[in-house]
Amino acid sequence: MATSHMTTTVFSAMVIILLSSAMAAQSSGDVGGKKPKPTDFMLEACKNAANWSKSYNEGYNYVTAEFCISTLLSDNRSADAKDRRDLALIPVDILKERVVTAGGNVKKMLHSTKNSTSTTARHLRTCELDYTATAGILNFCDALMRDYQGDRRSEDEDNDGPLNFELPECVDEANEAWGYRGLALLHIPGAEALVKEGDELQMLMNLSIALLSPYRLD
Ligand SMILES: *[C@@H]1O[C@H](CO)[C@@H](O)[C@H](O)[C@H]1NC(C)=O
Ligand SMILES: *[C@@H]1O[C@H](CO)[C@@H](O)[C@H](O)[C@H]1NC(C)=O
Ligand SMILES: *[C@@H]1O[C@H](CO)[C@@H](O)[C@H](O)[C@H]1NC(C)=O
Ligand SMILES: *[C@@H]1O[C@H](CO)[C@@H](O)[C@H](O)[C@H]1NC(C)=O
Repeated sequence: MATSHMTTTVFSAMVIILLSSAMAAQSSGDVGGKKPKPTDFMLEACKNAANWSKSYNEGYNYVTAEFCISTLLSDNRSADAKDRRDLALIPVDILKERVVTAGGNVKKMLHSTKNSTSTTARHLRTCELDYTATAGILNFCDALMRDYQGDRRSEDEDNDGPLNFELPECVDEANEAWGYRGLALLHIPGAEALVKEGDELQMLMNLSIALLSPYRLD
């Protein structure tokens, strides 16, 4: 009894600490801007993205609506998003930066690898190039997405932007280029942090693809 009471007290204390740090994190996030709230459009888009991802990934490791919403809310642009492109630009922009940081972390590990002809060094070098290539494709996708003029291209002569399906296809290409690193990193002793970072980026990649899924050709 005493033990369980103590556990409850410790547990409540932990919940309070977690809640207040979450609140502190949230209030420091909206300095100088309006506080983002989930809009109906965002909720609907995240519900659809989760549903698409669930069937695409056959129920395993799919993008949840909660992850979608919390990612979109981390950027106040989501409040003004008018289409899927506007929403998908958020994870793509986050990815663009984080892939560069992750590539830098791979480079650091490469520099600390003493034997430059070892399997580890070889895998890290390929991995670093992979991150650089992925960042390049993501930069291109970002520009393509910004150039998107809406989905009325076939009817509207003034609309000379990219076609709908070109947006998800571009992120697919980034995802394919990026696919190599998983295999390379898994076999490197001591690369657990890099693998974990890669998995987080993979979630953002999957989210970008899922948000753009309505633009696919069926
Ligand atoms: C979003 O937040 C940034 C600062 O993080 C601020 O400069 C910008 O004005 C905000 N935009 C909107 C639409 O609230
Ligand atoms: C979820 O996805 C499946 C398969 O893509 C589709 O048949 C179904 O209509 C979707 N459900 C909702 C609520 O969007
Ligand atoms: C470096 O790695 C290669 C390949 O595993 C190995 O043949 C070589 O002996 C290693 N060199 C040193 C100095 O350990
Ligand atoms: C991302 O999606 C792919 C399928 O495209 C799936 O194999 C993988 O497990 C997913 N990864 C994560 C971290 O959600």
